[in-house]
Amino acid sequence: MCGIVGYAGYGDAKTFLLRALNNLEYRGYDSAGIAAINGHGITTIKRAGRVSALEETINGQFGQATTGIAHTRWATHGSPTDVNAHPHVSYDGKVAIAHNGIIENHATLRRSLTTAGIEFNSETDSEAIAHMIARHMDDGASLLEATQRAGNELEGLSVILAISSSEPDAIVGIRIGYAGSLILGEANGARVLASNTMAMPAEVTAVTHIDHCEAVRITRDRAEIADVIGATVVKAQVPLKPDNRITEIGEYEHFMRKEISEQAAAVQGAMRGRIDFSKPRIDIPEIDRIPNELDRIILAGMGTSHFAAMAGSRWIERLAQIPTTVEYAGELADREPVMGRRDLLIAVTQSGETYDTLTAIETAKRKGSAVCVVTASAHSEATRMADFAIDIGAGAEVAVPSTKTFINSMLVLYMMGLQIGNDRGKLSQLEFVRQIESIVALPRAINRTIGQESDVEELALDRFKDVDNLLMLGRGDLFPIALEGALKMKETAYVHAEGCSASEMKHGINALIEPATPTIVLIPKNGELRTKMLTSIYEVQSRGGEVIAIAHEMDFEVEELADRMIPIASDDEEHFPFLMTIPLQQLAYYTALARGIDPDRPRNLAKTVTVA
Ligand code: F6R
Repeated sequence: MCGIVGYAGYGDAKTFLLRALNNLEYRGYDSAGIAAINGHGITTIKRAGRVSALEETINGQFGQATTGIAHTRWATHGSPTDVNAHPHVSYDGKVAIAHNGIIENHATLRRSLTTAGIEFNSETDSEAIAHMIARHMDDGASLLEATQRAGNELEGLSVILAISSSEPDAIVGIRIGYAGSLILGEANGARVLASNTMAMPAEVTAVTHIDHCEAVRITRDRAEIADVIGATVVKAQVPLKPDNRITEIGEYEHFMRKEISEQAAAVQGAMRGRIDFSKPRIDIPEIDRIPNELDRIILAGMGTSHFAAMAGSRWIERLAQIPTTVEYAGELADREPVMGRRDLLIAVTQSGETYDTLTAIETAKRKGSAVCVVTASAHSEATRMADFAIDIGAGAEVAVPSTKTFINSMLVLYMMGLQIGNDRGKLSQLEFVRQIESIVALPRAINRTIGQESDVEELALDRFKDVDNLLMLGRGDLFPIALEGALKMKETAYVHAEGCSASEMKHGINALIEPATPTIVLIPKNGELRTKMLTSIYEVQSRGGEVIAIAHEMDFEVEELADRMIPIASDDEEHFPFLMTIPLQQLAYYTALARGIDPDRPRNLAKTVTVA
């Protein structure tokens, strides 16, 4: 949460920083600011609201500044106002800082600085850092030393960028624990420090990760990394994957719609180089690193990634015949689980930065379990912590509501189940081939489903625009999809939606059924679960509830029964979890639009959640 970026170069710092802030805005978007050094010392401009609001107020005030830092905020301490926005400036105006993290001893630090006569301007915990650095510099410390000393006095997890008018060409960054990444990019004529590779200029082809307790000082021509006692640290660069760069919005009005629409290409990204239909074979090479002696696979994630993990756990158990459990990563980290060397944790996290998921990874490693990360972020902390990482191949996702990364995480887990099952002799050749054929046919089926968008849009306008509550029911493989569909409605359109297992209805939830609360029912194509879901339709209707069914296009019985139906045009039951997700994403998107909400940037949220 919060995006930070610093630029030291020959070019115009403000232009670079504004572009970088736009690329980092998904990390927090309640306020933004820039501090840069020009002939007159430090100039700071910050505003509540989006980066665009900041951009409108700048008016050439930075002059020819070539060194500066910037921040886009997701508030923790102090409401989102101009004053609380970062960067914060020291009492003498000589130091400015941008901070990501939480200072646990901020009240004590504030008290001691106030007693020393320093006046605070903001309600934030972060402002103290600027004053502390300025005091150390007053005592003769360099910017690097002063920032390190201030860092040593902080409790909690932090990433800090600092500039000082006494060292006008330099930026210092430090990292204490993990409060988001700090990544160094170097190109001809510029050095950049940022929370994420998305802020890096196109010329940067490799990056260096700054680790816990390390500090880095950059100027336009040099970068020096130091450890906690000031000794130089030499670190290897990691090649920057082009996929991690932010994409343009193109013809679309919102990233969410763009990302929903590109899901056929996204799943092809997950299959690329991994499925060989001529053999037939699935080859995700990282799977060879799974220990042979395995008693159990634990899958964990948060939010949408948790629901992808839930779907994946069912498939892995079924296809590979290995016992699986699934839970919220935060809950795993909050207890002392019985885990050991014969367990594998699969952590699902598109950003690779989610605090709860990182702590679950830490827990699993402490217990001696192997850790695999399923992620979209090759440069993330989760990737670096895990024994091995599997890229979901979805590229960068910009809208806060996850769409294509959900589908791709599910598909990668599905393919993992197939490969492990095949390697361990749990699947017949016939079944294995049938499953591969099914995966290969998925992109076309996804495209067909996306093509039905206008019907879903009409449903959003006609019916869901004014709905306050709704229920979403699924069973078996479609239960996680009901949960994900409900989360999409909540976060994107601010509609209270309950995702439920239809098996759970009689145990309390039936009390919510009434005419004003529509129920979306996900119906499998065949089998006992379809019959059970038909019973659920009858039960909802006999209590006065309206039913919107998502079912196979030829399921005339459901069509007749339900008040409305969204058809799924695939004969392949394995496709259903993927295909049914799509109208639910579209429904959330169009309901948000109908209610005047920006689906890309829902209130109170951020795309990466790096705090507890
Ligand atoms: C919802 C959404 C969130 C994330 C969750 C975990 O659309 O995106 O629920 O899934 O915050 O994020 P990652 O996958 O980055 O760990």
